[in-house]
Amino acid sequence: MVNVEKFIDQAIRRIRDAAGEEKVVMALSGGVDSSVCAELASRAIGDRLIPIYVDTGLMRKGETERIRSLFDGKNLHIVDAGDEFFAALKGVADPEAKRKAIGEKFVRIFEREAKRKGATMLLQGTIYPDRIESEGGIKSHHNVGGMPLDIKFKGVIEPLADLYKDEVREVAGGLGLPVEIQHRMPFPGPGLAVRVLGEVTREKIAIVREANAIVEECLVEEFHPWQCFAALIGLGTGVKGDVRLLGWIVAVRAVQSRDGMTADPLLLPHETLSRMAARITAAIPGVSRVVYDVTPKPPATIEYE
Ligand code: XMP
Repeated sequence: MVNVEKFIDQAIRRIRDAAGEEKVVMALSGGVDSSVCAELASRAIGDRLIPIYVDTGLMRKGETERIRSLFDGKNLHIVDAGDEFFAALKGVADPEAKRKAIGEKFVRIFEREAKRKGATMLLQGTIYPDRIESEGGIKSHHNVGGMPLDIKFKGVIEPLADLYKDEVREVAGGLGLPVEIQHRMPFPGPGLAVRVLGEVTREKIAIVREANAIVEECLVEEFHPWQCFAALIGLGTGVKGDVRLLGWIVAVRAVQSRDGMTADPLLLPHETLSRMAARITAAIPGVSRVVYDVTPKPPATIEYE
């Protein structure tokens, strides 16, 4: 276990020393690692930190507003890039091609913005398990979200490189970040795009975003899952207001896991499932049915793509 007070003091001092007089840029996602990093660096170097949040249009409901209010007054730079991402995803249905298109777009936008800001140093929320993974030589050091950057920085600062996830959460508490951030569920880099099977459109993302928000409201506080979410898995007939319609099938996934490598579905009460299905179908006109996924990982993955 980490001594939180001591860690915070040391990390601030180290960031200050490493940054010198340079401008430092970072990709802020709103997850616990990048939020802790941004808070430490903001305390260390103030306005010379430029946290960049790329709004991909694939984020959860309220995410951008949440980040804006959390980092208000901390030099936050929000890039509204939804149009660029939807254009890059047009006609792309293969899961790996989708991931690649999103990753590429993200990195190029980040580079563009970092150059505009004249930053010469990169801050990354790499944690100890990420470092172990990258020791296989897979990851380049100048990377964002695991993708290599074309710009070369004078240096990379990784204040969380010796911490495990639970220690990062403790530090988040010590920094006074909201409890909601400390216990934030993991969210995939490609966002809601991997929760829509096949081609991604604005319409599908709007539906899955709304369904996802309802699932979180129904399950997070009461059941504390490792992850819970909704995914659009196809079309099925339904009857709404005496009219037969072809609507979306929403799959609900709620799992417990230690590290995401394996996972078990939550045994949710039938009443909870029924209430959730009723809320989703009532709130979202285009949804005709809701199913609950009872498959562990393996053989299924946690996400749908
Ligand atoms: P799977 O679906 O492979 O997911 O069982 C395991 C964990 O990783 C998250 N995940 C991702 N995170 N980029 C990420 O940053 C991705 O492309 C990605 N795919 C899955 C997933 O949410 C789960 O926590």
